[in-house]
Amino acid sequence: MGTIGGIKIDGIVLLGPMAGVTSLAYREFMKPFGVALSFSEMISDCAIVYGNKKTEGYFVTSSVDRPVGLQLFGSDPAMSVKAVGILESKADYDLLDLNFGCPVHKVTKTGAGSSFLKDTDRLYRYARAIVMASHKPVTAKIRLGYDLEHVNFRENAAALISAGVSLITIHSRTTSELYAGTAHHDWLKDFGKELSVPLCISGDIFTPEAAIEAMKLTGTSYVMVARGGLGNPRLVTNVNRLYEGKEVLPAPSLQEEVGFARDFMHRLVLEKGESVAAKELRGLLPHFFRGFRGYKKIRNDIATLCFTLDDLEKVVKRVETTGRL
Ligand SMILES: Cc1cc2nc3c(=O)[nH]c(=O)nc-3n(C[C@H](O)[C@H](O)[C@H](O)COP(=O)(O)O)c2cc1C
Repeated sequence: MGTIGGIKIDGIVLLGPMAGVTSLAYREFMKPFGVALSFSEMISDCAIVYGNKKTEGYFVTSSVDRPVGLQLFGSDPAMSVKAVGILESKADYDLLDLNFGCPVHKVTKTGAGSSFLKDTDRLYRYARAIVMASHKPVTAKIRLGYDLEHVNFRENAAALISAGVSLITIHSRTTSELYAGTAHHDWLKDFGKELSVPLCISGDIFTPEAAIEAMKLTGTSYVMVARGGLGNPRLVTNVNRLYEGKEVLPAPSLQEEVGFARDFMHRLVLEKGESVAAKELRGLLPHFFRGFRGYKKIRNDIATLCFTLDDLEKVVKRVETTGRL
């Protein structure tokens, strides 16, 4: 059992923040598979301060969900400090994570997300202001640098540590690479061993072997499961099992996948209501059936024919009863 900023963390797999995915329903669904710590999707400081109703849904947590980090993004320390005060009065959470990795232009053009990576002094000042204001431990998520000409994770990590953060997660790509190519874990060789706070490695964790290899190579205490867990919750279990030297579980049968899909579907409907959930599920549900024969057809059917829970249930039922997609 490790600790991050004094919070007990029972395991090595952190569930990566994903905008539009990692709401409470997803985190609660994933937790029993062996998630040690989850993160919310990124939450805008301005939206918190202006009391945006939809945003308030992003910081709902539960006892099952804990320990959980809420992830904040912003550019102006004063605005973010205000947001932290509001989060502390309205939300139950364990850690505050700062987003310095988002590459989306809409975010970086406002000076938020990974635009901080370009200016280590600004990164330090912002992180320091939040650490001073927050009553919860603060963690940070970065990339290797802004582009291949500016790979400055060493300077940025040192600045974040002196600002007082308790964990650094590195997605081992640069901002300009977005999600293309393969993650450069080799650039972080043994980096985790050099730091005085725990490091979490993120990027292309699609198999248990990839997770353990990335941890060993980079010397980190934690590994982040993000895209690889979509429709494949057992990845988390198998990363834990491989880490513990146990045999990994076989790939789930189609029937088991149907069970996972249905469980998640119902949780999302409870959380968001049928019409919002059905819309989001059109993008999320097909992940559960990746790799099975007829996947393309089911993905198409879900995307084009499913507008209600009933529509989705019909597709899932068809898969369940025929054993085919
Ligand atoms: C749809 C999507 C949304 C994401 N949203 C966030 C986010 O809100 N905050 C963040 O720090 N990272 C976000 N990420 C990055 C992931 O947390 C992770 O670092 C990245 O996907 C690399 O890991 P992977 O290749 O194993 O998925 C997002 C990634 C995806 C695919």
